[in-house]
Amino acid sequence: MDSKPPAVDCYGIMGYPVSHSRSPMIHRLFAMQTEQDLQYELLKVAPSKLESAIKRFQRKGGKGLNITVPHKAEVTRLVDHLSERASCAGAVNTLVFRDEDIVGDNTDGVGLMRDLLVNLKLNLTDASILILGAGGATRGIVAPLLDAEPKSITIANRTLSKARVLAEIFSATGPVIARRFEDLRSTSPFDFVINATSAGLKGEIPPYPESAIGDQTFCYDLSYGLSPTPFCSWAAKQGAAHSVMGWGMLVEQAAESFLMWRGVRPNTQEVLKQLSITA
Ligand code: ATR
Repeated sequence: MDSKPPAVDCYGIMGYPVSHSRSPMIHRLFAMQTEQDLQYELLKVAPSKLESAIKRFQRKGGKGLNITVPHKAEVTRLVDHLSERASCAGAVNTLVFRDEDIVGDNTDGVGLMRDLLVNLKLNLTDASILILGAGGATRGIVAPLLDAEPKSITIANRTLSKARVLAEIFSATGPVIARRFEDLRSTSPFDFVINATSAGLKGEIPPYPESAIGDQTFCYDLSYGLSPTPFCSWAAKQGAAHSVMGWGMLVEQAAESFLMWRGVRPNTQEVLKQLSITA
C-alpha cells in the first residue's frame, strides 16, 4: 500500500501543536515563485507518536520534513546522519529523506544570520551581544553568532544554571558569559539584544534588564506576530534604536530548508513582502 510513490513530492511540518505554523504558506510561496511542483502539509504529531510518524511519512515517499516545537531536540536521536550545525544546536528543524536514510540538519542559525547580516545589514563584528533566555533557541544561535566575531556574548536567564551550561559549551569557541537578569541591573547598554525566551508566547514580560537597552541598541525578537511582540513593545519603550520581530529569520530558515530539498534558493525578499500582505 505504501510502495506507490506519490504523484508530487511531499513535504510537511511536524509539531504539537502546529496549526499556527506559517511554514505551509511560506513553502507554497517558494514553490510558486520557483515553479516547483510539490505539496507541503501540516502534521500534528504527539511526542509519543513522533518516530512512527516520521517513518510512515518516509515510507509513503515523503521527501523531507520540517520539525518544530516540541520535537526539535528529540529528533536528533532519530536520524541516521546529523549535520554538524544540528549537533552543535542540539536540535533538528529539517529532515531530508535520502535513499533509505534520514539526514537531520538545522537551518535556524543560518536563517537568523542571513536576516541580520543580509536583510538588516547589521555589522556584528566587535559588537556586545546580549541573549535573553537559555533554552533550545539560544543553544541554536550562539555558534553562528560567534562566527560573526562579536566582542562578547552574554547569556542572561531567569535560571542561571542553564545559562552557565551554555556558556561552558560555547566559551571554547568565543567569549560567552552567563548572567541572571538581575546581575545586569546597572549594565551599560549592549549593541545588540536578542530575545530567545519563550515568555512572550505566554504573554509574559520577565524582569529584563532595562539598562541593557540604550538609544543605539538594536533589539531582535526570535518570536514574531501580527502586532509587536511583548519583547518588541518593551524594547521600544526602553528607547531602543530598533526592535524587530523574527519574520525574516522564519523565512530565511525556510529558504535554507527549501534549498536542501529542491536545489534552488527562493528570493526571500519577495516572500517577505508577500507575507506582510497575506499574514
Ligand atoms: P526550551 O524547551 O527550549 O528550553 P522553554 O522551556 O520554553 O524552552 O524556555 C526557553 C527560555 O525561555 C528559557 O530560558 C526560559 O527560562 P528558564 O530557563 O528560567 O526556564 C525562558 N522563559 C520562559 N518563560 C519565562 C518567563 N516567564 N520568565 C523568564 N524566562 C522565561
